[in-house]
Amino acid sequence: MLNWKHKDLLGLEELSKEEIELILETADSFKEISLRPIKKVPTLRGKTVVLFFFEPSTRTRTSFELAAKRLSADTVSISATTSSIVKGETLKDTAKNIEAMKVDIIVMRHSSSGAPHLLAKAVEASVINAGDGCHEHPTQALLDMFTIKEKKGRISGLKVSIIGDIAHSRVARSNIWGLTKLGAEVTVCGPPTLIPQGIEKFPVKVTYDVEEAIRDADVLNILRIQLERQKSNLFPSLREYALNFGIDAEKLKFAKPEVLIMHPGPINRGVEISPEVADGPYSVILEQVTNGLAVRMAVLYLVSQGGK
Ligand code: CP
Repeated sequence: MLNWKHKDLLGLEELSKEEIELILETADSFKEISLRPIKKVPTLRGKTVVLFFFEPSTRTRTSFELAAKRLSADTVSISATTSSIVKGETLKDTAKNIEAMKVDIIVMRHSSSGAPHLLAKAVEASVINAGDGCHEHPTQALLDMFTIKEKKGRISGLKVSIIGDIAHSRVARSNIWGLTKLGAEVTVCGPPTLIPQGIEKFPVKVTYDVEEAIRDADVLNILRIQLERQKSNLFPSLREYALNFGIDAEKLKFAKPEVLIMHPGPINRGVEISPEVADGPYSVILEQVTNGLAVRMAVLYLVSQGGK
């Protein structure tokens, strides 16, 4: 079996097919721990994991913390508003001070693309990217792929349509790299203003026709409209977006019978996805969250072994 060589996990663009498969296989072996009456193993006993979150998070932060605790690591949380960054300390200085306390792994979310990469160069501790700006969210894409593989038995040869705000989505970018390396065909769909410039450099098909994106797809990964990252009005209104691109029961009539409905969360019900689709029989949205824990246990374990 391939050995994990990296100190950090910063994105899926730089990983090989075999490295992505190694993470998914390791996650598979960790999943059953969360089904035990005592959900704890000693794998990371004596290690310290710092959760360094500069943007809001429910799923990623909680599941990294639970993953670390289930592996018996100690955890510490730091947020932007309660750290000395508000007093003018640089990110690098803050990180160096945290490292001086002999921590092993830093999990970082930041609104600036590349912030975890800067940190990874500055510290000896392993750095895991928990989402950097519009760039990458590798563990989200890994849990999406884990869920697809669990439900469909494979990834290679599947057609996956990612629908929504592609321009501002780190989830879309990580999914595109991961899925295409594992042999899936990826289509991205949204209004032209929400498809990023330079999309032709990515190995994807682009359509502005939601019906075309739905037809033939084995998986629909529906993304949130990220109003907090949009600097100008990129579509007339949320109501108009919902009418044209929101996935509801009416639009799902074009879908394959066993289509998988995914969403990374948080959901804006009635905007990009209707409640009957989010809670419907094809939705695996909460199973994605469950699988996120196993994937993050795997990533914490692998980086703790890597580059040593
Ligand atoms: N999917 C995701 O990253 O969710 P959070 O922002 O709640 O972590």
